[in-house]
Amino acid sequence: MLRIDIITIFPEFFRGPVDYGIVKRARAAELVTITAHDLRQWTTDKHHVVDDRPFGGGDGMILKPEPIFAGVEALTGKSKREDFASDTRVVLLSPQGRVFSQSIADDLSKSAQVVLLCGRYEGVDERVAEALITDEVSIGDYVLSGGEAAAMVMVDAIVRLLPGALGSETSALHESFSEDMLDHPHYTRPPDFRGMKVPEVLLSGNHAEIERWRKAAAIAKTRRTRPDLLKEK
Ligand code: 6GU
Repeated sequence: MLRIDIITIFPEFFRGPVDYGIVKRARAAELVTITAHDLRQWTTDKHHVVDDRPFGGGDGMILKPEPIFAGVEALTGKSKREDFASDTRVVLLSPQGRVFSQSIADDLSKSAQVVLLCGRYEGVDERVAEALITDEVSIGDYVLSGGEAAAMVMVDAIVRLLPGALGSETSALHESFSEDMLDHPHYTRPPDFRGMKVPEVLLSGNHAEIERWRKAAAIAKTRRTRPDLLKEK
């Protein structure tokens, strides 16, 4: 069973999103536990302060190292990266990270424990990255005010890859979004909706023809919207 721990100043944020669809089902089936932890519980001062002003000046507040170190220690039993079990990952969510991808999701889905540390936009004391973090991940080239929404994106992408998370009729293995091609278009009934017709071949029952059409349609769609995917290899 995969254990996902989220360290955040907004633990309530996750209450809704982990309670729907595949993620809810995977939790119920005990494929994964997902726990959001309030960073403030690991502060030791009276006012539970988690951030402070940047040395050297500048705008915004920086997450302090002490509660983060205490939190990671409490959740992993270890105080530094070198001591983590090889199947433990501690991920900092930040706009400075590697861009999240299906292959990162796949890799993380094979671990025993994933700790997701939600940064704030202004930043996290760098000693956290130096001593504690195994991976620094961004979900794309735009700015979020905090890592919470990004963490939930990662949770969804990871959990649906766990064996048994998808229904028996579907399998992540059969999905077209590998990293080099988009999915083909899909249609369902009715075959004629307001004059917009479903491609004839899909109604033909000819599975070889349907496969050929889907492959060509996927390539055409990818060329139009994500030509960068085709150019890579
Ligand atoms: Cl992980 N955090 C923040 N603050 N902004 C982001 C992001 C993460 N990924 C893209 N933008």
